[in-house]
Amino acid sequence: MADGITLGTVAQRAHCAADASLFDAIERALDGGLGRCYVTDASEKLIGEITLDDARALIRDGAYLSGLNAGTAAKPVAKTLNKGDALMDFGAMCAPVLDKNGALVDIAVDQTASFLPVAEPYLSHKEFRNVVDAFLSTWISSQGQYIRDFEALFAKRMQAGYGIATSNGTVSLHLAMVGLGIGPGDEVIVPDLTFAASINTIIHAGATPVIVDVDPDTWVLDPATFEKAITPRTRGVMPVHVFGRPCPMTEIMEVALRRGIYVIEDAAESHGATYDGRPVGSFGHTGSFSFFGNKNVTTGEGGMVLANESELAERLRVLRDHGMKPEKRYWHDEVGYNYRMTNLQAAIGVAQLERLDETLAHRERCAKLYREKMEGIPGLTFPKPMGKRYGPVTWFVCAQVPADKRVALIAACKEHAIDLRPFFNGLSIMPAYRRYGRPCPTSDHLSRTGVNLPTSPRVDEKVASVMAEVFLKVLGKNS
Ligand SMILES: Cc1ncc(COP(=O)(O)O)c(C=O)c1O
Repeated sequence: MADGITLGTVAQRAHCAADASLFDAIERALDGGLGRCYVTDASEKLIGEITLDDARALIRDGAYLSGLNAGTAAKPVAKTLNKGDALMDFGAMCAPVLDKNGALVDIAVDQTASFLPVAEPYLSHKEFRNVVDAFLSTWISSQGQYIRDFEALFAKRMQAGYGIATSNGTVSLHLAMVGLGIGPGDEVIVPDLTFAASINTIIHAGATPVIVDVDPDTWVLDPATFEKAITPRTRGVMPVHVFGRPCPMTEIMEVALRRGIYVIEDAAESHGATYDGRPVGSFGHTGSFSFFGNKNVTTGEGGMVLANESELAERLRVLRDHGMKPEKRYWHDEVGYNYRMTNLQAAIGVAQLERLDETLAHRERCAKLYREKMEGIPGLTFPKPMGKRYGPVTWFVCAQVPADKRVALIAACKEHAIDLRPFFNGLSIMPAYRRYGRPCPTSDHLSRTGVNLPTSPRVDEKVASVMAEVFLKVLGKNS
């Protein structure tokens, strides 16, 4: 089978011959992204299909042990189309297209026929093979070759010295702060526009968050705002590369190093983004990533801390493992945590990392498609390009709409089975963080007007056209 996988295209790969194995059919169903594989005989005539749900049932029953192949496992296909039929609105997510002899000639895809989440993992045959391999190795806990490989490969890709894999991107931030010795009495500067995990971890570490507004052009922490917020108690700053948008790290590092402040980058949403040509997460004393299911690299749940200094990396590893040094088992010099990732998760991560460029290219294509179809709709704006030194990536596609139309827009998209999400709420306005709240007009405005458009692997031209119709219908009314 070809190794290259292209996201968001008609899934010609979701097809195999009757004598193929069940595992071959599964791999093609995964790569095709349709959750099913069509099965044909020697004359290319359609015999039936195997869905991933069918395959799961067969695996649970052990049916594959009886020499079952794709031809015997295939079930009849509910809906087929004839070559030459008008393929608009055929009422299913996909259907095989047959010629007059019943041979499979195409697969028609309509991604708007079923619910489209804002993001979903795209797991290919590569993740499947790695996870089976990790399982069969019996190294399913937090030691194993995939952990070592994932840490080394991720650090290399992000141009950092060391990678320390963790159970998620929240504990990786917490681990980083504890590892740097940040705690009670210390202040950590954090932007108002971020997911709550950023500030939560500062509070978990016992430190005091100092919330600052974001820059109106970049939407991220601005070095001058950061410097103004420094007090004698400031020990750390947490630049958050929100929505794939890199912070100006060269300038932030200059201020931080001059003022003796630790930099804990939160790159949970920005795998592969760069500033001055260098990947985010590699500038700070630590860089933290999330591998939650909607991220550009996913392990289901998972995280990673990057560090450039070997001593810090070693300390983070010890703290991640209950505070226990590898050479002195069951001896604890300090209180640690169990923040480990499993080898099964890392197995998925290795394959996902290998496919990162392809994922980024797909999400960038989503952004391009939406712009092509939607630019000019009254009241809708897409972010302006960032400056030359910024290398943003697409995580979700961001746009802004009039605040008073956002609820109606989200509801209208839901009616069309498309998940449109509002931006995060600014931290300062929420009850949990009100005591740290500051006036943050830019973040306020962004959080009241921002929407995230889907970047699911299933987004294609038709999805973008439907989005455009829905937006035009709602925003076209007296905007
Ligand atoms: C900016 C930011 N920081 C931290 C996290 C926490 O990551 P996780 O969900 O893996 O704990 C997220 C998660 O989405 C995030 O968006």
